Amino acid sequence: MRLDKYLADCGIGTRSEVKEIVRKGRVSMNGTVVKDSGAAVSEADSVSVDGKALGGVGELAKKHWFMLNKPAGTVSANSDVRDATVIDIFKSEGLKGLFTVGRLDKDTEGLLLVCDDGELSHYLLAPSRSVEKTYFARVSGRLAPDAAERLSGGIEFKDFVSRPAKLEILGEDGDNDTCEALVTVCEGRFHEVKRLLAAVGGDVTYLKRIAFGPLKLDAQLKPGEYRALTDAEIRELKAAVGK
Ligand code: URA
Repeated sequence: MRLDKYLADCGIGTRSEVKEIVRKGRVSMNGTVVKDSGAAVSEADSVSVDGKALGGVGELAKKHWFMLNKPAGTVSANSDVRDATVIDIFKSEGLKGLFTVGRLDKDTEGLLLVCDDGELSHYLLAPSRSVEKTYFARVSGRLAPDAAERLSGGIEFKDFVSRPAKLEILGEDGDNDTCEALVTVCEGRFHEVKRLLAAVGGDVTYLKRIAFGPLKLDAQLKPGEYRALTDAEIRELKAAVGK
């Protein structure tokens, strides 16, 4: 990375301001004053401004990954004129460029990944990688007896044919025509789970994502709470997309 970009990323000033700071000899690399803003900085170098050491280049390049238990009522967007967004929840992190890995509906709760890693996020969402997402659903209405087969065979909608999805009924209340179910899909179509269940006679009254690829929603996280992913979890995500 160029020295001026590194200094700007560290918040020392704009690109032109840091060039001036370098020109004045206020910046040292590995103990020696550098006056070339274009000098290359690598993870092995230590840089200081006015004698004060800055964080390592590796730290800057590090991507941030979080698991959020999305609360109902928040939108999966960077900003919204009306509603609170999930990115608002991360304000105190002071990180620029965070975004959600896919979206959950405003009324859906559960596991939402938030990161600043465009590359891995892209792979996780790519239809070709077929990363599975599992949802817990409360459903009203009587589901068709062959609902599971129909979902696994793919359902033809006006705008697309769904990829095979799994349905597992956890419990039924025959008197009230309600049930609880797990639905696993491997694509991320708009309202997909609600539309799949509607196609087999069910109306989703509550939806929560409980797994994304290899990761399960951390049971310690209450709605609105989040935590950083561990390095092992990030490795599991990479493995899930063959990276
Ligand atoms: N499917 C839905 O219908 N809604 C979501 O929020 C996610 C998947």
